[in-house]
Amino acid sequence: MEDIDLRPLRIAEKKILAEGIWLFELAAPGGGELPPFEAGAHVTVETPSGKRRQYSLCNDPAERHRYVLGIKAERPGRGGSSSLVDETSEDDEIMVSAPDNSFPLREAPDHIFVAGGIGITPIMSMIRHLAARGQTNYRLIYCTRDAASTAFLDDLSAPPFAERVTIHHDGGDPNQAYDFWDLFEKAGKAHVWCCGPAPLMEEVRGVTGHWPQSAIHFEDFATDAGAARADDKPFTVRHAETGETVEIPAGQTILDTLRAAGHKTPSSCESGTCGTCKTVLVSGEADHRDMVLTDEEKQGHIMICVSRALSDELVLKW
Ligand code: FES
Repeated sequence: MEDIDLRPLRIAEKKILAEGIWLFELAAPGGGELPPFEAGAHVTVETPSGKRRQYSLCNDPAERHRYVLGIKAERPGRGGSSSLVDETSEDDEIMVSAPDNSFPLREAPDHIFVAGGIGITPIMSMIRHLAARGQTNYRLIYCTRDAASTAFLDDLSAPPFAERVTIHHDGGDPNQAYDFWDLFEKAGKAHVWCCGPAPLMEEVRGVTGHWPQSAIHFEDFATDAGAARADDKPFTVRHAETGETVEIPAGQTILDTLRAAGHKTPSSCESGTCGTCKTVLVSGEADHRDMVLTDEEKQGHIMICVSRALSDELVLKW
């Protein structure tokens, strides 16, 4: 992560929202207003294990006295969200950044929200914001495994949301996934806001390929999943102009490795969604894992915060 300022906030409330999902309400230690945020914003939190994680704010942005986070403890955890859930109590102070927003809600004639699992968090803030202004020009499709794992189920099953929300349970079976085609078959004037696991976002990207791409928005850092996979292999990156080579270990991203080697590589989301770390790919076969590059852009670019290599070497201009 880039250097960001963190300040202590108090855990004013901590409670279970749904199976494996916790609600954290954060407030200024002495009370008072917090820095403002807009719908879709997130904060960076330092966990007790020393890791930094980004979490979307899920309350109405008009509220200035608190930040409300929905946190899923990945099991088995990697010491990030699970450490936050397991090693903190109400009234503890944790280090939190000011809000940032890589998924801002824009004015649009209509809004279609698609959330999967814990990806509901930024979208809760968005629909709360719209509802608070009396707007009804939206609908939400919210996909979860079952009722027990559905955060905010009570809120979404009651006015003003219930009539605009479809909650779909797939029972953990990919064959029972929601069929989005009817919703997106005809390109409309709506903007689409999608947050959830990669398969859901890939599905939505696939069924909206004929929509204006400027109307389709994705966010995915609401999970601990990151980009690491058990079968990741080391590879080399070489600078196209200087010839410098850097070995990328299996458990480390290109971004982190270049940074450790002293290069100033810009980043923001570090989850392949914001576009900040876009880097020129000169040659080599990339293993693209981002959600921002188009197929055309993938020919000559790579998002170095998440993507890796299928070939032994990538030649880049970082
Ligand atoms: S830092 Fe956001 S896509 Fe890489």
